[in-house]
Amino acid sequence: MEQAERGASGLRARYDAVRAFTEALCAPLCPEDYVVQSMADASPVKWHLAHTTWFFETFVLGQRAGYAPFHPQFGYLFNSYYVSVGERHSRPRRGVLSRPTVEETYRYRRCVDERMRGLLGELDAGLAGDLAFAIEVGLHHEQQHQELILTDLKHAMAQNPLRPAIYPGARAGRSGGAAGELRYVEHGEGVRWIGHEGAAFAFDNESPRHRVFVGPFALADRPVTCGEYLAFMRDGGYSRPELWLSSGWDAVVANGWEAPLYWERQGGGVQLFTLHGPREVDVEEPVCHVSYYEADAYARWAGARLPTEAEWETAAREALAGEHGAAGGGAHGEATRHGNFADRGRYHPEPPGPPPRQGAPRQLLGDVWEWTSSAYAPYPGYRPWPGALGEYNGKFMSNQLVLRGGSCATPETHVRATYRNFFPPDARWQMSGIRLARDL
Ligand SMILES: [Fe+2]
Repeated sequence: MEQAERGASGLRARYDAVRAFTEALCAPLCPEDYVVQSMADASPVKWHLAHTTWFFETFVLGQRAGYAPFHPQFGYLFNSYYVSVGERHSRPRRGVLSRPTVEETYRYRRCVDERMRGLLGELDAGLAGDLAFAIEVGLHHEQQHQELILTDLKHAMAQNPLRPAIYPGARAGRSGGAAGELRYVEHGEGVRWIGHEGAAFAFDNESPRHRVFVGPFALADRPVTCGEYLAFMRDGGYSRPELWLSSGWDAVVANGWEAPLYWERQGGGVQLFTLHGPREVDVEEPVCHVSYYEADAYARWAGARLPTEAEWETAAREALAGEHGAAGGGAHGEATRHGNFADRGRYHPEPPGPPPRQGAPRQLLGDVWEWTSSAYAPYPGYRPWPGALGEYNGKFMSNQLVLRGGSCATPETHVRATYRNFFPPDARWQMSGIRLARDL
């Protein structure tokens, strides 16, 4: 966000908007939908609603002397992983919590919203900057959980043989169109500045801004499509160990993978499950719900490789600067013109459409998160945020890979060129896809 929006009134408006968007995502749900936990990595929607509320209670309201929590045990139930904050309920057992009820959970939200609005009113009179910062973190945190609500719901609904369509109207707005030939955009070598700098919000893992030598490379101008991925499958991609990393091949064998998550053979065709129900695979749209292992194997099959995160960010900055004549740290330009975010209400990647100008990359932001070959590690000189919020990102910097760019389940104001998402290499339930790179 821009500096001007960071004042108290801007913060209050954004608080209301972010909290309302979370609840708008839940509007089509029935009470039973809120409680299902389909696997350890996914949480029930009700838990997301309460946990994001707990975050404001703990890191904002609870920082003030004499604060009385809404419920004495909600801290135990809805703390996710903050060890320094206290004991917590087991993550894989979030689905056994029939109480608090959905109604009580919404009452919890109402109460904390009321207290937060009182506090934001005091902000107008000048409140400590550390509280304003914690509110900012809480808003970006809630946006992350908006994406998780969508991906966790999708996973839960996919377990149901009825294949329920949670957002049946989403498909109606689909833009369609052809992906067009995949082209590579070339980038010369050089010392590049990577990472976040400036007054706008960013997570601690995006800093400090630092220099990286990036060799000459080419980056695909769009993500890999379902049609291209089908060609990999038909060429025996899932039965050729020479294409796979060792641990990737182990995952293929152990899990019986033969297609991206949510793909199913139906007669002679292939169907996939979406949040607007099952349908035929669209060969023009970006392939989604692939693991790092699958992305890496596909790239090897295609005679290419995955980009490093420094290459990805270099290309994104150049694309965004092309529109704004600036570094592109927070503004969205040409790279997002064809990007599809959660705000659009479709929750599924779409065909990219033609490039806005010759050589401009498409869908760098939005549609699908793009696996990079970069391990999720601290930037040189990285310092976690002080206090318990220091547990937010830093402690997960092992055994995960960085993804860039946001997806059709990401709120548009959440993502930026420096944003680092991260998941283990076998994770498939996020909206993760593939963008190829090549050496020059
Ligand atoms: Fe969280």
